[in-house]
Amino acid sequence: MEILIKGCRIPTPYFFAPINTGFSVDGEPDARLIRFHGERSGRGIGVAYVGNVAIKEEFRTNLGTLFIGKSLEKWKYLTKTILANGSIPAVQLACRLPGPPSSRKWRTNFQDKFIARTQRTILDLDPKIITKIKENFIQSAIRSAEAGFQIIQIHAAHGYFFSQMMNRKLNLRKDAYRFSSLQPLEQIIRKIRYELPNILIDIRVSMFDGLENSAEENYRVEQIEYISRMDVDCISLSAGLYDVDRAMIYPEAEKGHAVYLKAGYSFSEKYPACLWNIAGNIWDLEVLKENHKSNLTYSIGRSLIADPAFVEKYLNGRVDEVHKCVRAGYCHYYSRGRSHIKCKINPNIGSS
Ligand SMILES: Cc1cc2nc3c(=O)[nH]c(=O)nc-3n(C[C@H](O)[C@H](O)[C@H](O)COP(=O)(O)O)c2cc1C
Repeated sequence: MEILIKGCRIPTPYFFAPINTGFSVDGEPDARLIRFHGERSGRGIGVAYVGNVAIKEEFRTNLGTLFIGKSLEKWKYLTKTILANGSIPAVQLACRLPGPPSSRKWRTNFQDKFIARTQRTILDLDPKIITKIKENFIQSAIRSAEAGFQIIQIHAAHGYFFSQMMNRKLNLRKDAYRFSSLQPLEQIIRKIRYELPNILIDIRVSMFDGLENSAEENYRVEQIEYISRMDVDCISLSAGLYDVDRAMIYPEAEKGHAVYLKAGYSFSEKYPACLWNIAGNIWDLEVLKENHKSNLTYSIGRSLIADPAFVEKYLNGRVDEVHKCVRAGYCHYYSRGRSHIKCKINPNIGSS
């Protein structure tokens, strides 16, 4: 099951999904984050993502968001911990445009207002800011590599900068930054590749945003296909916009196991040169084994939050010992007005 890509040996296709925890002080990982990832690396986990690391302080989601500042000491400790346990350390670099904080609501009642506000923000965006964002992505990728991350994931899903730019209802620009132009993303990838030839580059992208019907999926497929022809190593598929409907990002249990598996099969078969990743309701690794494709990988969020040994137990035939996520929703701390992640099944989360 090992994946060998550009000299990097990824031990299994089961990844720990990017998870925003709130465990940071002044943008730096704190002892709780180190413990959180220490428990969720090794143990059969191929890649361990550190979620939502802002490219710069001014582009962070909120005051609890991580960003790589002047000192790399804590970051190096984090990546060493993950690597020593046996997983490949990965960082998700994200950019959120400054604006009003996200609503605490799970689904918005004001979609039209959100669309109108975002359209205005994007139309008013000075090209100088876009240049700055590109530069910050490149610099934070370089710093991430210095800190010991071996995979750089660019967050282009869930309503972060690139996902808004890629949406035709949100991005009404007609210039070089129009929705159909993936030029800024392509420039960043080219430059990261040039600066960091040994780093694996991954893009997380939403297969649909939930603002339109299936027409949205059709043009997004074309965008994803275009991205797959850029010099990227992995494309991580997700869905939804955080400010519109969070259930698309974290599907309800009723949607069933591995909700985006069909899409994963389709992309991985059509584009075998790229590594593909899917997330969303993955809780049965036996089912995944049945039809496993060598270039398809799986990001697991809530099952690993609830039980850090979830993958290990599956791999060792101890499935009946898994502490299953019960969807109590404690981990959705922002929506609950809290400052960091919690878990009903795993009350240890948050201790250092
Ligand atoms: C508490 C929590 C925080 C999350 N934070 C992030 C994040 O920072 N970046 C991201 O791309 N996805 C984030 N996600 C989405 C997960 O990466 C994953 O795609 C989603 O939870 C679906 O997988 P699951 O059903 O296995 O939980 C988060 C999910 C949860 C539950």
